[in-house]
Amino acid sequence: MPIHEIRHPLVRHKLGLMRRADLSTKSFRELSQEVGALLTYEAVKDLPLEPVTIRGWAGDVEVEKLSGKKVTVVPILRAGIGMLDGVLTLIPGARVSVVGIARNEETLEAQTYMERLVGELDQRLALVIDPMLATGGSMIATIDLLKRAGCREIRALVLVAAPEGIERVMSAHPDVAIYAASIDDRLNENGYILPGLGDAGDRIFGTK
Ligand code: URA
Repeated sequence: MPIHEIRHPLVRHKLGLMRRADLSTKSFRELSQEVGALLTYEAVKDLPLEPVTIRGWAGDVEVEKLSGKKVTVVPILRAGIGMLDGVLTLIPGARVSVVGIARNEETLEAQTYMERLVGELDQRLALVIDPMLATGGSMIATIDLLKRAGCREIRALVLVAAPEGIERVMSAHPDVAIYAASIDDRLNENGYILPGLGDAGDRIFGTK
């Protein structure tokens, strides 16, 4: 599955604003949701439709409605919460499955500390959201977990992706499409994306 870098002017403009070091928490948070919504728009543009006849103001009219799988949005704690409302603005009926992944400092492996998955995952499209795809560890662990729970169709939505993380996710899960507002240059020695956004969780929650 390919990686999609969404080069829409609105996305590029908003992401450019987010890169400013002096941006307020409020603006960073708002822009995370807005870019999350724009990524969603792109990520679901192939959803199937079916015709239905409804009563319109001037009589019967044939319209279209979504006919495919239902959607679950999967924010990876904690930063993924920063994109959640943006996604739900466009897909208000989606169910939310929350996943918490942390790195075990001894084994350096990604470990799940919380999972609250919705039911019927085999009949749902999962949109996994996390602002930063850095090493890919959390994303891979989340996709593993969703697949173990029966989910068969998964897409990943991230604000910024590092080539290293893309590579790892694509080789672990070649069936998962990744939608990113930007593919940045690289990871630094501390695992931060360059030029990146800094610590997205801290900037969304105002913890720094
Ligand atoms: N997580 C972040 O918040 N930022 C990075 O650059 C990498 C991981």
